[in-house]
Amino acid sequence: MRNSRFVTTLVVALALAFVVRLSAWAQEGGDAEKYRQGAQIYAENCAVCHGENGEGRVGATLAKDWPSIRPDLAARATIANGVPGSPMPAWSQANGGPLTDEEIDAVVYFLLNWQTGGFPEITPRPTATAMTVLSPVPGVEGDPNRGAVLFDYNCKVCHGAGGEGRIGEPLNKTWASVRPDLAIKTTIAEGVEGSPMPAWSQANGGPLTEQEINDLVAFVLTLSESPVEQVATAAPETSVQASPLSGWWGVALAIVLFFLIVLLSQLLQRNSPR
Ligand code: HEC
Ligand code: HEC
Repeated sequence: MRNSRFVTTLVVALALAFVVRLSAWAQEGGDAEKYRQGAQIYAENCAVCHGENGEGRVGATLAKDWPSIRPDLAARATIANGVPGSPMPAWSQANGGPLTDEEIDAVVYFLLNWQTGGFPEITPRPTATAMTVLSPVPGVEGDPNRGAVLFDYNCKVCHGAGGEGRIGEPLNKTWASVRPDLAIKTTIAEGVEGSPMPAWSQANGGPLTEQEINDLVAFVLTLSESPVEQVATAAPETSVQASPLSGWWGVALAIVLFFLIVLLSQLLQRNSPR
């Protein structure tokens, strides 16, 4: 009786030890896989701003020592939620981004390895996509073919490979502006403040030269269905621009003004001699 209980205990203990050992092996294998997945996600989504080796570019340096006690949690929160008011987008699907929780875990795992010197592996570059030769847009300075390469590396992550939109706006559209080339150039050079769209010109602290931005403008125009007509029919007058008082800003301003007037009238009433 006592003997059989002893044997049962022994068998259970051995089985437990085996399971623990097995899951440790599985984990070791899983980690290399996770690292590769993280490296891939990083190359496709993050290198554009943080540099291929985390050295920083438009975005912060990530190849560093993290001051946090749980750097994985800190990094995961930043990646999932983004940094509002900065170019750092929110990546989690819960926040409208493109990455699953598992993918975010993988990319966190990947970038924290820089802290310890990293794996001896090399970050894969984004795979080059075959491109058709584009004819230049009449009246526009840049070369759309060079623009296509620049777009693939810098813009695809947010605007999609064919400009169909992802975190950023679709660009394969008909442009409302009369001189779309100028409007597009300004947006690329200066970015859109308060949105994830970074400023790309060197004059604004970005990585691209004026020529490169011209090339990008030419390429972006080829994304819309009728680039030639669009610029060819462009007349230099009457550009349609949203007034700064339109939409919610106008409403907010009206409310603030209303309260100011009420406040002022009360102050005047209080101070006026009876
Ligand atoms: C459009 C540019 C851009 C892209 C793309 C981008 N980031 Fe960032 N990221 C930034 C900027 C800018 C900051 C600094 C924000 C701040 O604190 O003002 C930042 C901050 C961070 C931080 C916090 C750094 C710190 O020191 O606390 C982490 C972590 C990070 N990014 C990870 C990622 C990951 C992972 C990806 C890809 C999934 C990514 N980023 C994609 C621009 C970008
Ligand atoms: C981190 C994401 C991100 C990256 C990288 C990015 N953009 Fe954008 N872009 C946006 C967002 C978001 C908007 C919309 C901004 C707004 O109006 O609120 C935008 C807007 C634009 C617009 C204006 C669209 C319109 O309808 O007026 C153009 C043009 C543009 N981007 C071109 C580019 C080009 C070219 C690159 C590469 C050099 C680039 N973007 C890289 C996020 C990005």
